[in-house]
Amino acid sequence: IRMVLIGPPGAGKGTQAPNLINKFGAAHLATGDMLRSQIAKGTELGLEAKKIMDKGGLVSDEIMVGMIKDELTNNTACQKGFILDGFPRTIPQAEKLDQMLTERGTPLQAAVELKVDDDLLVARITGRLIHQASGRSYHKLFNPPKVDMKDDVTGEPLVQRSDDNEESLKKRLDAYHNQTEPIVDFYKKTGIWHGIDAAQAPATVWENILKALGKN
Ligand code: AP5
Ligand code: ZN
Repeated sequence: IRMVLIGPPGAGKGTQAPNLINKFGAAHLATGDMLRSQIAKGTELGLEAKKIMDKGGLVSDEIMVGMIKDELTNNTACQKGFILDGFPRTIPQAEKLDQMLTERGTPLQAAVELKVDDDLLVARITGRLIHQASGRSYHKLFNPPKVDMKDDVTGEPLVQRSDDNEESLKKRLDAYHNQTEPIVDFYKKTGIWHGIDAAQAPATVWENILKALGKN
């Protein structure tokens, strides 16, 4: 399947992506994870991006489009389909993506919006724990790992993201409402949009995604 996951910080994009990967065998293209891996490697791009990310702003469209173009071209796993998580995040990114995929003859098949009110997101974000290498996310209360502070798969330590604090979250939510939410209308016009109530428990959200995609 070729689809995008849209939703505010903490909506559950990274939580639902592994379900979609297991079900469809598609590649997980998470731009936030890609940027965090650049930061971990200490690249110039990573250093620049970290300043912006910690403040809750958006990295430039040019950089992000380049990153996705590179994945679509060089990551052979994308041939089986892809789940875009965190991209597109602006109208120009959505337009560029559309253009790239049309040129390749592989248009998007679904745009799934995970809808959650802002007031539920503070608790989700401040309690999140992640496994740095894989991007897997857990929650101290809502989705605890099997062993305290350890990744279920590798046993490696879990950490908090440096942008997971109330101050950055406020800015990330502003960026979402002002710059990202307009892409919902963009996809509604194309007829591939599905809105999902993502305030439910993770398993319920997953069932509803499958229903929306007609794959249950
Ligand atoms: P990114 O990494 O994409 O962050 P985000 O969009 O803010 O989204 P999150 O990862 O915070 O939320 P999520 O929906 O994945 O939540 P999760 O499933 O983990 O981007 C980070 C930064 O990179 C951006 O701010 C920007 O600076 C930059 N960037 C990235 N892409 C860019 C682009 N295209 N253009 C420009 N800049 C870009 O869930 C959150 C927590 O809630 C977890 O603890 C989870 O266990 C829990 N949870 C999940 N679902 C449920 C549920 N149903 N019930 C209860 N708890 C739940
Ligand atoms: Zn995420």
